[in-house]
Amino acid sequence: MRKRLEILLAGRAQEELKALEALLCSQGDIQVTSRLMLNGNVDPLEGANPLPDALVLLVGDHWEAELTALHERPAGERPPLLVVGPKGNVELIRLAMRAGARDFFSPPIDDSEIMQFLRELARDRQVEPGRMARTTAVINAKGGSGASLVAANLAHRLVRQERDTVLVDMDVQFGSLPLYFNLVPDHGLVRALESADSLDALALEAYLQRHESGLGLLASSPGDHLSLGEVPETRVEQLLQVLGGANDEVVVDLPRWLNGATACVLERADHVLMVMQQSVAHLHDAQRLRDILVHELRISPARISVVVNRYDKKNDVDLGSIGDALPGLKLHTLPNDFKRASHSINVGSPLRDIAPKAPLTRQLKVLAEALEAPSPGSGPVRKRSLLGWALPRRH
Ligand SMILES: Nc1ncnc2c1ncn2[C@@H]1O[C@H](COP(=O)(O)OP(=O)(O)O)[C@@H](O)[C@H]1O
Ligand SMILES: [Mg+2]
Repeated sequence: MRKRLEILLAGRAQEELKALEALLCSQGDIQVTSRLMLNGNVDPLEGANPLPDALVLLVGDHWEAELTALHERPAGERPPLLVVGPKGNVELIRLAMRAGARDFFSPPIDDSEIMQFLRELARDRQVEPGRMARTTAVINAKGGSGASLVAANLAHRLVRQERDTVLVDMDVQFGSLPLYFNLVPDHGLVRALESADSLDALALEAYLQRHESGLGLLASSPGDHLSLGEVPETRVEQLLQVLGGANDEVVVDLPRWLNGATACVLERADHVLMVMQQSVAHLHDAQRLRDILVHELRISPARISVVVNRYDKKNDVDLGSIGDALPGLKLHTLPNDFKRASHSINVGSPLRDIAPKAPLTRQLKVLAEALEAPSPGSGPVRKRSLLGWALPRRH
């Protein structure tokens, strides 16, 4: 592991870059590389390989393009970010946070602020020397679309592919995932969230239920009178961090209402699977969900896939119209198989165990393979520390 903190400092104003470089270097044994960005450059990380331990971005007139370029990178392919820019521009700060900024400073910069930032970086590097898991969030466009079936069977498939996988049932009120694995619901998720700030990989094990396949399930029991609205976003963030550090894959089954906690999962996810069926009503809700994901949470469409479940090629709502209504999203289909789907849930055995050759099982395998990213990202994931923002709740 590298010993010195390596920081990439990028900006367009040479004098300010120099001053900031001097300030960073005065804080200890830090290697700072300055990058003077010219007109054509918008991605401050372009060509940075390996990634630095952190990026300090000094923004000027081109802040929107630069922060958008960072935001479009998968979470695992951006190092912790510190943005330095003018005071009082709320839009700028919001976009900075969405691009994963941990902090936002305005000149004149206080030594102690920089020191604090560097100290956190050094600490995180010790906590997470390895890779972060790939996170896949599954959400339905309409209740009953099959999101839980997809999440459960996808996670089970990933375990069979020798990936350490944890499945999180974030539906604290109507979660059904324990049924899929014949496990007894526990207070795991709620307890884990309560103690998220002191949790490490070892302690985490106590909250997981283990399926015989090796899959770890983190779910809550119907007795937990907790709504996700009451869960502080930072706890969810901390929990995902620990889960990510201890696994190769984290699959999260999300409830359909969006709040700070669910938004936090969606923003961190490398892939968002939006599960729907073929009807005008599903399509309508899927469009609304897409708009929220893309325009309000600013999730890149490249990270969102649509899973058309119980697909019937004779249905009037065909793939062409779904593709037109949901531009920029990848489409997958899963065949209808009511008998096996319900049998699997009734006996609490995943599809791969009870019907390995069924078309539905095979298509789930194709879906799992489609998640394979060419290069899993490394380095700690981002942390929002300044602004939360109110999201419209869906009832
Ligand atoms: N491909 C499929 N074919 C047939 N039935 C399915 C399929 N996928 C899901 N189902 C059934 O649909 C119902 C709802 O699925 P579920 O995963 O709970 O949806 P959601 O989580 O989106 O509310 C379940 O009873 C499940 O058995
Ligand atoms: Mg569900």
